[in-house]
Amino acid sequence: MPIVTCIEDLKRLHKRRAPKMFFDYAESGSWTEQTFRENTTDFEKIRLRQKVAVDMSDRSTAGRMLGEKVAMPVALAPVGMTGMQNADGEIKAARAAEKFGVPFTLSTMSICSIEDVAEHTSAPFWFQLYVMRDEDFVDRIIERAKRAGCSALVLTLDLQLLGQRHKDLKNGLSAPPKLTPATMLDLSTKWTWGLEMLRTKRRQFGNIVGHASNVEDARSLMKWTAEQFDLKLDWEKVRKIAAKWDGKLILKGIFDADDARKAVECGADAIVVSNHGGRQLDGALSSIRILPSIVREVKGETEIWLDSGIRSGQDVLKALALGADATMIGRAWLYGLGAMGEKGVTAALEVIRKELDLTMALCGERDVADLGPHNLLVPRDFE
Ligand code: FNR
Repeated sequence: MPIVTCIEDLKRLHKRRAPKMFFDYAESGSWTEQTFRENTTDFEKIRLRQKVAVDMSDRSTAGRMLGEKVAMPVALAPVGMTGMQNADGEIKAARAAEKFGVPFTLSTMSICSIEDVAEHTSAPFWFQLYVMRDEDFVDRIIERAKRAGCSALVLTLDLQLLGQRHKDLKNGLSAPPKLTPATMLDLSTKWTWGLEMLRTKRRQFGNIVGHASNVEDARSLMKWTAEQFDLKLDWEKVRKIAAKWDGKLILKGIFDADDARKAVECGADAIVVSNHGGRQLDGALSSIRILPSIVREVKGETEIWLDSGIRSGQDVLKALALGADATMIGRAWLYGLGAMGEKGVTAALEVIRKELDLTMALCGERDVADLGPHNLLVPRDFE
């Protein structure tokens, strides 16, 4: 097993092991990728305050999300097509999260289905829903998530239209990959990936194929998906969907203080301050920059989580210190999965926990609940 000291190591290994079209799918942002880049570079602009001579013998990264204890306040964000980065990827990631003691979120656009993941895990996971125009499909998938014991519904609100990612268009992204001279050449060097993929039957979007009308294979699925994201999504519809779900509700993609207020009025147990990892509105601010305005509006009325740009335990600490109650990671765990399957997701979580723990200690903090602006030096023009 290679020595992994940081998330960047996992990214390098992911790039080496996975087919180019899937690594590029993970790594890209929309259009110029400005927001994608600034999601990470803005974290670097915030500096940490060192504190000394504080008893550090008894400290913990443990926290709570939706009232449940977690090993650290970091959940695995929903990621589409994970099962293409590594065969049965969603099952592997869910198992790693379960063993580590953090929540896993399954995407609507996953390769393994809700039932596949439920069969191979014992802890309840969360299910992420994109609002589709086919209301029967939405009703049925909510019922499936309930039957599988999912403990929270993550409703993603920032993808009524798909942001354009140039690399995906140029690579002809599809699952499973279409065989062209370019993909065949690439796949010939990715034989570990290929062998594992041949061994699994899960190569299609298991939540959708066979469950939506007239979607029986990859081709009909692409057509269906292109027509299905609901352009008419509004707060009334959010309320209607929320009423169908009995458990905890998380609204993801909140990036504006007024929208955060509306999310609270819809009964959100948590909101995720997220620009979808820079994959949707290019030109939007980074998530860490927008966070304080949302904290001022709704802190204490719902849990405020942040994602987009987190690549280290230091980033987690900075988000918590600026007022987030918890965080989610997308690419950080995906790189781990693409690099080394379940072990890689565990490695990503271990890296982040170690970094969070050590940084807390050097900042003179013993408990994540005590982190605050006093730990940071934030540039004056940051907001
Ligand atoms: C995503 N994201 C996402 N979000 C969602 O609600 N449903 C989905 O299916 C997906 N799919 C997806 C695929 C890939 C490849 C990426 C990178 C991201 C967004 C994801 O949940 C999260 O908001 C971002 O990944 C957070 O940014 P970082 O941590 O990747 O920088």
